[in-house]
Amino acid sequence: MRFRTKQIHAGVTPDPTTGAILTPIHQSTTFVQPSVDDYMATGYSYSRSGNPTVRAFEEKVAVLEGGHDAAAFATGMAATNAVFLAMLNAGDHVVVSDVVYGGTHRLASQVYTRFGIEFEFVDTSKADNVAAALRDSTALVFTETPANPTLKLTDLRAVSDIAQEAGVPHCVDNTFLTPYYQRPFELGADLIVHSTTKYMDGHNATVGGAVVSRTPELHEQIKFIQNSTGTTMSPQVAWLTLQGVKTLTERMDRQSDNAMRVARFLEGHPKVATVAYPGLESFPQHDLAKQQATGFGAMAWFEVKGGLEAGKAIMDNVRLWTLAENLGSVESLITHPVTMTHAAIPPDERARIGITDGLVRLSVGLEDADDLIEDLAQALDGLP
Ligand SMILES: Cc1ncc(COP(=O)(O)O)c(C=O)c1O
Repeated sequence: MRFRTKQIHAGVTPDPTTGAILTPIHQSTTFVQPSVDDYMATGYSYSRSGNPTVRAFEEKVAVLEGGHDAAAFATGMAATNAVFLAMLNAGDHVVVSDVVYGGTHRLASQVYTRFGIEFEFVDTSKADNVAAALRDSTALVFTETPANPTLKLTDLRAVSDIAQEAGVPHCVDNTFLTPYYQRPFELGADLIVHSTTKYMDGHNATVGGAVVSRTPELHEQIKFIQNSTGTTMSPQVAWLTLQGVKTLTERMDRQSDNAMRVARFLEGHPKVATVAYPGLESFPQHDLAKQQATGFGAMAWFEVKGGLEAGKAIMDNVRLWTLAENLGSVESLITHPVTMTHAAIPPDERARIGITDGLVRLSVGLEDADDLIEDLAQALDGLP
């Protein structure tokens, strides 16, 4: 089956008792056992450990990523945290992309450091930096590409080869492009994390996460953490996300087309200083974007002349774009990472990695691109 078919059918079979075409929401804490000797005959005992609706979603995500199996979590951060807990021990060292979602940075630098685990933030856009950072104690390489919010890319094949040679697992946050556009396992990754809150759901309806493992051994370790820490996705969220995923390809293609049109408009606007979108020829890693992914995604950012104050005025002046955190939904969102998604990163570090005060992040949605462009145009025209 091809991707477009799998996104609809994988993991979901009609309900055997009623014929319901959609997997029902199995809103049940516990599952009745036929006898002590037949314990777990149905495969389920208690919804923290496993739930049929959540299972359908896990199977779908595993198939879409081409992994051995997946575990679904309450949020994307719970998914990332499960990878850290499963892979790391006190005294370990981790190589992590210097540009990552602010919550990932916070978890690494403000939580795990309390337990004697060292995270080294490395510019993984140059694979040699990863090789140079590896130590005997390195237990994980964690990359995010395209990275939130600067869209810096990591060459997944090159970094996977380096990690594999050192015997270190490589985990990729594939939230921005999803398996429809980017396939980390085919490029050598061992683990994939998702904030399913974003494109998988696509409708601003849930928060959720997933970890997909390449091997049964890795999946066992992740499942153990999922059950031990109780950070499992709920059946309601799994059900909603199961519906969202069915249109992933259609949404992503259209949102990416919209993003290209918005980026081209901004590129030609006299009040705009910088525009970044991997699909633009001017994007510094445009060639890598074309080489390792089949689409450019729907995230972009720009800076207006006049810096922070002018950027704030744009975010306040738009009418159709919505000032909010989150990304990947059908609604177009505009975000100021410095005060919103990446506030947890210290200002000097933000400046060093290119998250400037004036950076305006765009999550381009599914509306008519002409309306999105007209709204940005009126907001830019309103600048002094
Ligand atoms: C790339 C990326 N990874 C992980 C997360 C965390 O996901 P969640 O908000 O679902 O916990 C986010 C959230 O914005 C993200 O953008």
